[in-house]
Amino acid sequence: MADALFGEPRLAAIYDLVEGERRDLDHYLAMAAELGARSLLDVGCGTGTFACHAAGRGMDATRLPELQVDLATMTANVAHVFLTDEDWAATLRGVHAALRPGGHLVFEVRDPARQAWLRWTRETTYRSLDAPGIGRVETWWDVTGVSGELVSYRRTYVFGADGVALTSDSTRRFWSRAEIEDSLRSTGYVLAGVRDAPDRPGREWVFIARKPG
Ligand SMILES: C[S@@+](CC[C@H](N)C(=O)[O-])C[C@H]1O[C@@H](n2cnc3c(N)ncnc32)[C@H](O)[C@@H]1O
Repeated sequence: MADALFGEPRLAAIYDLVEGERRDLDHYLAMAAELGARSLLDVGCGTGTFACHAAGRGMDATRLPELQVDLATMTANVAHVFLTDEDWAATLRGVHAALRPGGHLVFEVRDPARQAWLRWTRETTYRSLDAPGIGRVETWWDVTGVSGELVSYRRTYVFGADGVALTSDSTRRFWSRAEIEDSLRSTGYVLAGVRDAPDRPGREWVFIARKPG
């Protein structure tokens, strides 16, 4: 089930504004060029921002491909939304089927050792934004629970125009690097590389997995 952030129209409408300039997508575009990808499947695409960026570079970016694609991506830590080994493996298998032989899956994962959730507090995440046509929006995050690898948190949005406060609750799994590498191997990928995210050095791993062929 989608988080309210994407299922509630008032929140979906401000997602791109809240996310800002999206420098995090630059290295995905660079990798698409490096890998010579001409077609893209963006898994967990949110508002479709990356597909639009890729289409602007001449790629065929589609959410439901009829043909196998050169490249699949999961931008903005989508891998963390899968909470069980089974769901994650099913996703990897589905992407594998959608890739052409020799195609690539590129995605990022937060290094759990950095404990990003310790900074998910109202104090450190509070922002006040002016949304064109909507008015002032205040937003912040609070962690609501930590259980092993699972971190739950609540995003709050307060709309100045009518005082309405909406929340979006999420749980994320902080995978270990070994878990990701094992899951890729067991679902038929070759690990072609693991890189740093250039805009978040030392905090995340960018996995490049290839479908043999
Ligand atoms: C953090 S957002 C990232 C959105 C987008 N990739 C971006 O860069 O803005 C996570 C995305 O994963 C999607 N998602 C959540 N649970 C999912 C699931 N079980 N299967 C597929 N997508 C899911 C959400 O709807 C949302 O689009």
